[in-house]
Amino acid sequence: MLNYLFTLHPHFYSKMQIVKQINDLRKILNEKRENGLSIGFVPTMGALHKGHLSLVEKAGQQTRFVVVSIFVNPTQFNDQADLERYPRDLMKDVDLLDSSSCQLVFAPEPDEIYPEPDTRQFNFGLLEQVMEGKFRPGHFNGVAQVVSRLFEIVQPDKAFFGQKDFQQLAIIREMVRRLNLPVEIVACPIVREDDGLAMSSRNMLLNPWQRMNAVHISATLFEAANKTGELSVEELCQWVINRINENEFLNTEYFEIVNELTLLPVTSWDDPGSKVGCIAVHCGKIRLIDNLEFGAINY
Ligand code: PAJ
Repeated sequence: MLNYLFTLHPHFYSKMQIVKQINDLRKILNEKRENGLSIGFVPTMGALHKGHLSLVEKAGQQTRFVVVSIFVNPTQFNDQADLERYPRDLMKDVDLLDSSSCQLVFAPEPDEIYPEPDTRQFNFGLLEQVMEGKFRPGHFNGVAQVVSRLFEIVQPDKAFFGQKDFQQLAIIREMVRRLNLPVEIVACPIVREDDGLAMSSRNMLLNPWQRMNAVHISATLFEAANKTGELSVEELCQWVINRINENEFLNTEYFEIVNELTLLPVTSWDDPGSKVGCIAVHCGKIRLIDNLEFGAINY
């Protein structure tokens, strides 16, 4: 009988809590805080994969109580079709999290996060005017709206973000600085599939041919990172774009080599600071992003 129940309800014995209401979440977190536990927070939009789980593991190593939010935030989608097709599978996500360091899943409905429309306008200056900001107008404003709201609700000691969304990480850090929020932002490295493709919830929307060809994005970035001794920054950018566009499944939206902190395009390998090559590519209707550190010339 117990076995039967366990098969029917895999979470029957699970200690992980799943909460939909802010009030319930607050009660639980207040108690944890009173007991001296530090709170780690991993905001996500679900359709979880090993990239998300690496953030959860890091949160488990650095904090005592880990909260993962699953919320497909409508205000950050500048393309309605992208919002509609975004993959959603809460039970599968809960299953994955159940065997991770996550202790609480916060999965609110849109009304809970936005009881009334969020009209706040953030201004991140140049940070939001390049790359993703340029091609997805309003996207980072939506990200800042939801993340600031989630921070207000969860009040984490540390929040964990992936370098996969390199510009998002810079925007979040800037938001925390400007709003003086008492949260430490922890950056986590990109997790890749065995063939090198950066893991993404959107990868599951690719058909088998698109998936096979999508690997060309990361492969080109890796190859390009070894060419900094041969080509100028400008030549290398053009080389990457041409190389990717040669593939009939892929169409580059932008590729830029930028300063890690300012996100402004680098003009020479001698420019100071770490350099990151950031790319967005359309594979059919699916838009994929990736990035890689581009070191200085190795003499
Ligand atoms: P989502 O795309 O679900 O990503 C949630 C977090 O997982 C982000 O910090 C993202 O950078 C990280 N992540 C995704 N793929 C990764 C990979 N392959 N390796 C490492 N980290 C990875 O980013 C968002 O959701 C939303 O914008 C959000 C911040 C939740 C606000 O709605």
